[in-house]
Amino acid sequence: MTAKQSLERQLQKTLSHARLRLTKLPACREIQLYLYDPEVLQGPISHEQAQAVVAEPAYWSFCWASGQILARFILDNPEWVRGKSVLDLGAGSGVVGIAAAMAGADTVTVCDIDSDALAAAAVNATANKVTLATLADLSQLALRPDIILAADILYDRDNYPLLNTLKNQTNALLLADSRVETLPAEGFDLKTTMEARTCPDLNEFEEFNQVRIYSWQMPQ
Ligand SMILES: C[S@@+](CC[C@H](N)C(=O)[O-])C[C@H]1O[C@@H](n2cnc3c(N)ncnc32)[C@H](O)[C@@H]1O
Repeated sequence: MTAKQSLERQLQKTLSHARLRLTKLPACREIQLYLYDPEVLQGPISHEQAQAVVAEPAYWSFCWASGQILARFILDNPEWVRGKSVLDLGAGSGVVGIAAAMAGADTVTVCDIDSDALAAAAVNATANKVTLATLADLSQLALRPDIILAADILYDRDNYPLLNTLKNQTNALLLADSRVETLPAEGFDLKTTMEARTCPDLNEFEEFNQVRIYSWQMPQ
């Protein structure tokens, strides 16, 4: 069984006819990812199946608005990662790490607590002809990355303290978020606000499509 088929098997535990489709991202046409085929989400789904998909979302099978926008930002501003060691925290599909690799990062590690996400990021890296290392637990980080990137990790309040602890683990941070009005940490600058939708589109509330990118840099 291929890695892609194995990932589809995981999705089929909640939606029996689920499948992945290689999808070009609307805001980042340079990147293609294996994402939930939207056709199966629009078909006849029982209420129970729909609830199961929402209750246990396979985050890696969607590209979230924040991930798309941070990937776009990195591709347009490669100086943030060029020649650097990069960590993509909460990688999901690996979209941000893939953008960093395309933008000329020296090394890219994707970290996610979900082992399926790491498998998906590896499959997606191959689809985009880039190389990513994978890491299951931030506490196992062996080397200090020059920069840490994170998109859409603040949906989980348990991650709020990370914003401060990460400052001790790197020289710079770029964070993309559309979930919180006020960042639960100080010292971050708002760089830009851009709009995108989750891919495939989950028809989230409009406010969740307004993505803010924040930066933090270690004081000289
Ligand atoms: C909403 S998804 C975002 C994925 C991707 N960054 C994007 O924007 O498309 C959040 C991802 O972060 C992962 N995650 C959440 N908390 C984490 C943590 N403390 N350490 C590592 N991964 C985490 C989840 O497993 C999930 O894959």
